[in-house]
Amino acid sequence: MKIAVIGSTMMDVVSYTDTVPAAGETREARDFHMAGGGKGANQAVAAAKLGAEVLFVTAVGDDVFGETCRKNYEACGIDTRYVMTAKGKPNGVATILVEESGQNRILICKGANDALTPERLREAEPVIAECGLIVLQLEIPLETVYEAIEQGKRHDIPVLLNPAPAQPGLEVDRIVSCEFFVPNETELALLTGLETDTEEGVLQAANTLLEKGIKNVIVTMGSRGSLWVTKDGAKQVSAEKVKAVDTTGAGDSYIGCFVETWSRTGDILASMQRASRYAADAVTRPGTQDSYATREMFGV
Ligand code: RIB
Repeated sequence: MKIAVIGSTMMDVVSYTDTVPAAGETREARDFHMAGGGKGANQAVAAAKLGAEVLFVTAVGDDVFGETCRKNYEACGIDTRYVMTAKGKPNGVATILVEESGQNRILICKGANDALTPERLREAEPVIAECGLIVLQLEIPLETVYEAIEQGKRHDIPVLLNPAPAQPGLEVDRIVSCEFFVPNETELALLTGLETDTEEGVLQAANTLLEKGIKNVIVTMGSRGSLWVTKDGAKQVSAEKVKAVDTTGAGDSYIGCFVETWSRTGDILASMQRASRYAADAVTRPGTQDSYATREMFGV
């Protein structure tokens, strides 16, 4: 089954520091790393590294970052027919600070990603229609996300929506046909207006989405694992304890591995378990896409 990932491209510019500078302060970073990022690209690359056939629909900048990102997708064996260059626009850039604990702070400038409009997405519809799963996040215009969900409906393709980064403007009524909704606790709280600090709160919030029609809510909770909630109940998958070096893109690696495994097996729980192990492995190395293991490294 081919997987269509429709989403963002960024260049991640990462500095590793023990202390984040205060306003007006200059500090020296311990280390620096620059490589491809963006939630859409990270998920597409993780799935492709694990051996999935991936179509990536994205807009890269008309600059050296855009060209570097495109070449990276080609090197990963991704179908780049709809990697569009946004004429005259800079590539998306993420400025990232990673602290000693592995925690990060990310500032994105979307650049070319805003050029992935519903009209541009419709150009890719005949190729998307041949895929068995559509994967979405929220670093592209919301109207494009809704158009992708409609394409899923038109062609009877299941859709996975990862509502990241959290967007207060996301309209729940336009996403209810999604097969999989994969937020973290913060995104779930923002969308439902409910507290998600406790497991009870997470369940309550997930249930409000199930009542509206979403079939599977999978909440990622970092080191606390992930929770799969359906109308039939909830199942928790624990996370492996590891020494995190860089947690950037861990959620994306989880989704990339989840969709690759699910596309082969159709087994949701087994896909969550493997995705959880894959994300735990990724955080032990620096970088985003560079930290993702290949199928040869990780196994099937
Ligand atoms: O989820 C991590 C990603 O968020 C980074 O790669 C950065 O580009 C931002 O999009």
